[in-house]
Amino acid sequence: MLSTYKHDLMNRRRFLQLSGFSLAASSALWSCQTSSRQRSRSDGRPIAKYRRERDQSLRIACIGVGGRGLDNLNELLAQCDAGPNPQFVEISALCDVDLGMLDATALRIPLAKRYRDFRLLYRDIQAGAIEIDAVLVSTPDHTHAFATAMALACGLPVYCEKPLTHTVAEARTIAQMARVAEVPTQMGTQIHAGNNYRTVVELIRSGAIGEISSADCWDNRSWCCGQLTPGALVPASLDWDLWQGPTLPSAYIKDVAPANWRRYWKYGSGTLGDMACHILDLPFWALGLGDQSGLRAEIRTDGPAVDSVGCPVSLEVSWALTWPSRQAGKDPLILRWFDGGKVSPTVQELSAKDGQNYGRFNTLFQGSKGFLFSNYDEHLILPGALAEKVVTPAPTLTRPAGHHLEWINAVRAWTMDLETKSEMTGSNFEYASRLTELVLCGAIAYRSVDSSQGTITYDFESGLVGADGWAIKANKLMTAPSRDGWTLDPTNLIFDAARSRI
Ligand SMILES: NC(=O)c1ccc[n+]([C@@H]2O[C@H](COP(=O)([O-])OP(=O)(O)OC[C@H]3O[C@@H](n4cnc5c(N)ncnc54)[C@H](O)[C@@H]3O)[C@@H](O)[C@H]2O)c1
Repeated sequence: MLSTYKHDLMNRRRFLQLSGFSLAASSALWSCQTSSRQRSRSDGRPIAKYRRERDQSLRIACIGVGGRGLDNLNELLAQCDAGPNPQFVEISALCDVDLGMLDATALRIPLAKRYRDFRLLYRDIQAGAIEIDAVLVSTPDHTHAFATAMALACGLPVYCEKPLTHTVAEARTIAQMARVAEVPTQMGTQIHAGNNYRTVVELIRSGAIGEISSADCWDNRSWCCGQLTPGALVPASLDWDLWQGPTLPSAYIKDVAPANWRRYWKYGSGTLGDMACHILDLPFWALGLGDQSGLRAEIRTDGPAVDSVGCPVSLEVSWALTWPSRQAGKDPLILRWFDGGKVSPTVQELSAKDGQNYGRFNTLFQGSKGFLFSNYDEHLILPGALAEKVVTPAPTLTRPAGHHLEWINAVRAWTMDLETKSEMTGSNFEYASRLTELVLCGAIAYRSVDSSQGTITYDFESGLVGADGWAIKANKLMTAPSRDGWTLDPTNLIFDAARSRI
């Protein structure tokens, strides 16, 4: 009993320290968790809200069911149906702020309960009015943290699209909430589960191209140039107020939804925010950056003059990474991102030298012995003489049948009261939150530094930019202003749902 109490208390203290919540403010979260989850292990650690046997369906709530949300729903069902041991899942609730999206997906899943406001879904979950075992979040970035935090506060496993959150501070809070909840989590970087990424990680770690000095990543998309459109009319099917969620309310922007919200800082982070969690995932993983304590990044960016509304047409970001256990005297590890048509000079040089277009890849590792190009599905080692010598290492990583299935398998184990570990899902929030931080602090560097020669230094331990000329501006961008009642402060998470207007 005593160890139970200690474990809980330790987690709560860590959470409060890291998130800056007052003890009084936190108490409501914990009463919410206790009321919504009566069951616990003999050592007091959390346990699934409902026990489910292997032949009972896992009941999933999907929040955001158009666009990627519909793909997620379909992929989840398809992966669970495939293979020799199908997993029984049932989509029990659909939630979308756009009636058109909600109704269209409801045609596919007619028996699911429908919601427009996810706070009401969580209120019903809390009250036991609907039984849910896990939540899948596919809303635009600015609502990820809120929809996810409520799941975690209810003790529910959660799959959330990438980037895990819209701000650095949110990523850190969600990571801490996930540590406390101990539920299976997964960020929607489905390529992480693929064979090619796993083989590349094994190759890099086996030293196939020697010691890595840098990795370049790129994507030619250009989610840019969002502009305000005063006087635009809100489409009849869309609840604009709910869509805005935690952001400060403003006039509707023509065509911002679906998808174009990526062009606006207020809701997304341009191409970097859209694609870097998929692509930087590979070097981040292969180079073990999620595991390094004391990690710091000196960040430099290059792009057009900053617009306070719209994201840039193209952007280059460079993170010079150091950490204490990296051999003293070594140069920082350089990670670079290029989008909107910007091209890595190393890729350009290699393409010109070999008369090839290596632009079909999206990642280049530079090692002391050679190079490794990769995209989602294939990789290539250069020079050819080195490639001929490289022996594919014996697999050290698992090969999951699917990213969604990996999460569902962990959820199944969780609901059967089996021991679960965060490593059961490759893109668990411990890992995903740090990758998200790395990506988002690149955007912060671009938005806060006034000159292409300037840098900021981000400290992954504190979540802050230290003592640089632009630190005040940069640290302000770690959070986004939110409207009344929308805060990740646990006291408001659940109770606001009860005040919701639908
Ligand atoms: N993993 C991938 O390959 C991949 C691909 C595309 C998008 N995504 C991610 O998926 C998320 C959604 O992107 P998208 O392109 O589908 O956006 P979208 O705008 O096309 O669709 C979002 C859906 O969520 C709904 N929605 C918006 N706010 C909501 C709220 N508060 N509550 C409930 N529903 C809400 C919208 O009505 C819409 O149906 C983003 O985070 C994006 O980065 C991931």
